Parts: sequence; structure tokens; C-alpha cells
Amino acid sequence: MDTKETIFSAPGKIILFGEHAVVYGYPAIVSAINLKTKCIIKESHLNEVQLSISSNYLLSKSSDSNMLNYIINHENREFEPKTKVSQRSVNPAYYFIVEKILNMTTSQKSPFIHIDSEIPPGIGLGSSAANAVAVIASLSSFMNINLSLAELNEFAFEAEKIIHGKPSGVDNTVSTYGGIQHYKQKKFTKLSVPDIDTHIVIVNSGIQRNTKHYIEKVADLMEENPEKYQNILEQIGKLTLNAKSSLLKGEVKELGNRMKQNHLLLNELGVGHPILDELVDSLDHYGSLGSKLTGAGGGGCIISLFE
Ligand code: MEV
Repeated sequence: MDTKETIFSAPGKIILFGEHAVVYGYPAIVSAINLKTKCIIKESHLNEVQLSISSNYLLSKSSDSNMLNYIINHENREFEPKTKVSQRSVNPAYYFIVEKILNMTTSQKSPFIHIDSEIPPGIGLGSSAANAVAVIASLSSFMNINLSLAELNEFAFEAEKIIHGKPSGVDNTVSTYGGIQHYKQKKFTKLSVPDIDTHIVIVNSGIQRNTKHYIEKVADLMEENPEKYQNILEQIGKLTLNAKSSLLKGEVKELGNRMKQNHLLLNELGVGHPILDELVDSLDHYGSLGSKLTGAGGGGCIISLFE
């Protein structure tokens, strides 16, 4: 039995500009952050796929530990989930990932998968994408399957669709490739930002929300009043392009102002929350150059620019 551990980690993210509009083909500017998910895989002595999850931020009552079990029959290459679909408490994306990878190999190894995340879930920091990228990278490597970064990213995008419905793909892309990116319609470029003496502070409102719900909310509003909401998305799109140029030139005051404008437009789009506005106001008092919600909204985090 192989006693080596296979370990990959993947970062969470913040959206600096352009959330929601990016779902409709407009650009977004996004950055990886230094909170990560680590996936550690060891060979199990049982003929099973086992999963355990630990998180600094596990907010649910029960740990998901060992809930995703497949019995593997190595002779006929069959694997069967132990839990019925209706009784599964583990995120369905993990089943998708495990089944897809087991179907790609004839390896006789049985993985014990441990996911360890520093990224709080449900607050817009890209935890689900980071989890998917880390698990796909580790499990494919453990099973001796070679995936290019492009294949890994596409695979993670499929997993993201299971959780979020119709995401833009920005979260999995920044988690796969890292850095600060300009992202539009599944294409990205990394931005080399000048070394400016600023900090982005991330403030967690503590309000957990569901990204899928807010993507659907905007889709419903677009159907109800396409003219009004298309116009807001277009304004966010233009703002994002201007913000990109401010970022590349290191114009921090302009950047802060554009963050303020983006926050107001997200409120108009219907994804704000009064507590987020209160946070934006208090950060103003502390001398912030500009703050905005980040991610799907309705709660989650505020990002704030400080000199
Ligand atoms: C994702 O973190 C934020 C949204 O723009 C959805 C997406 O891009 O998939 C709201």
C-alpha cells in the first residue's frame, strides 16, 4: 500500500469589480486571496472511497466526516455509493468529482480524501470553487491521471454548475490560475498591478447566503424588467473597464471611488443588504478610500481599500 500523501491546495477569491454582470458576459476583475483549501489524499486500506472534511469555519451542526463512501470492487471496476441520493448530506459536487475521476482510471487504489479549508463558506470568498479545484487536482494526481490546468479548470466549472446553477466560471478560473485577473466569457488575462502601497481589508458581515439564489434573483429581475436591469449591468461593465485602467496605473483614489460606485450599482441590482451598507459607512469613518460588497451579495463580505 502506498503510504505517500498527495496534497494540493487552491485559493479563495475576492471579486474586485463586476460580480453578477460577469454572468451576462461583461468583464470582472478578480483576485486570489491567501485563504486556501487543502486536499490531502492517502491510500485507504479499505476498498472504499472515504471523505472527511474539516474546516475552521464549519458552521453546520454535524461534520460531513466520512459521509461520502463508495464501495469499490476492483475486479469489475464497479463502485457503488453507500448512501442513497436522497440521504446524501455531502455537497453533491463531491459525488460528481469522485465518480468522474473513478470513471477515468483503472487504478486499483482506494482514496481516503481529506479536505481542510480555511475559507469560510457562503460569504462570497469562493470556497466551493477552491474546494473543487483542490479535490480534482489531488484526486486526479493520486489516481495518476494527467490533467492540464485548462482541463482542471473546466472540470471545476462543471462542479460549480452543480452548486450554483449558472455561474460565470470566474471563481474556478481564479482558483485554478491564481493572481489578479481580468475575466470575461471564460477567457482571462493576468494583470500585473504596480506595487502600490494599499491594503484591501475583507470584512465578513457574518450573514451567510446562497450564491445560486442571488444568481437566480438577478435572472428573474432581468426577465421582469430587461431594460432597467440590462442598463445596470452595462454600467457595471463600463465601470469595471475603467477600474481596470485605474488599477494598472496605480490610481488608488479613483479605484476607491469606483468601488463605491460599484457597490451602489449592486444595490440597484437588488443584491445589497442594509448591514452591508452600515459596514460600508463605518469603513468610511475609518478612512477607507472605497468599499463594496464582493461576490453574490445579500450578505457575505465587504472589501475596502485603504492607503
Ligand atoms: C461569484 O462569486 C459571483 C457572481 O458573479 C456569480 C458568478 O460569477 O458566477 C454573482
